[in-house]
Amino acid sequence: MTEGGAEQETAAAGDGASDEVSEEAAELRERVLDGNVPRHVAVIMDGNGRWAAERDLPRWEGHRRGMETVRQMVKASLAVGLEHLTLYAFSEENWQRPEPEVAALMELLQEYVASEKEELRDQGVRVQVFGDLERLSESATRAVEELQGATREGEELQLNLAISYGSRTEIVQAAQRLAELAVLEAVRPEEITEERFEEELYTAGWPDPDLLIRTSGERRLSNFLLWQIAYAELHVSEVLWPSFGRADFYEALLDFQSRDRRFGKVQA
Ligand code: FPP
Repeated sequence: MTEGGAEQETAAAGDGASDEVSEEAAELRERVLDGNVPRHVAVIMDGNGRWAAERDLPRWEGHRRGMETVRQMVKASLAVGLEHLTLYAFSEENWQRPEPEVAALMELLQEYVASEKEELRDQGVRVQVFGDLERLSESATRAVEELQGATREGEELQLNLAISYGSRTEIVQAAQRLAELAVLEAVRPEEITEERFEEELYTAGWPDPDLLIRTSGERRLSNFLLWQIAYAELHVSEVLWPSFGRADFYEALLDFQSRDRRFGKVQA
């Protein structure tokens, strides 16, 4: 864990979007640290639109506030020594939203890079962006490259941002690449094992998520990391993403710690 992480958790009360840490969150964090901290947590960040609608605000305000929650989740992850935090920031299907909303989300990504790049680097966070990035505009592509470049030395936490991501496309593309190699006789069908298949996924080399959190009460996987979450524990929070705070995150980790993970086997 970083020293910064520890300091961040000693502050007094505050709400979900504040840099201050509530006593409740600090206490929950201590409890999390007493148990088995997952290596990799993946999150379907949902409910930005509803959060905005409840306040008569435009949807993009919900996304903006959702970006603030991202900042807080990075700090919360550092404070418990998580290795990987993977966030579903923009799905392949999200391209079908009204053009102004897509533009606002892309703009937000660029704002995120401009405002967070240095802090992420100083916190020891390494950012990896994955998905069909060829669909991004030139300026968004530049922002992604800048963010990955600036944080490439980070060793405390890997923050993986899924952008223009769809799990079925990822799996189909992996199958296509292996089929091409098979045609070229560069791989034999019997060599296509789970391990070899995983090497073709965006997530090659990362541990599988131990825990998948979805906010806003929806109980769907929405084409997110379908291969990788085969044995993940699921935690659904009723809280909308912009209101999701560190205490909610630590509650999810405690829920994970209460599970009996058997990976299909029986208890020894
Ligand atoms: C789902 O809420 C959320 C998204 C489609 C976008 C997530 C983006 C962010 C949290 C901000 C940007 C993040 C980064 C890292 C720059 P929804 O709009 O589907 O909500 P609804 O179901 O209530 O309508």
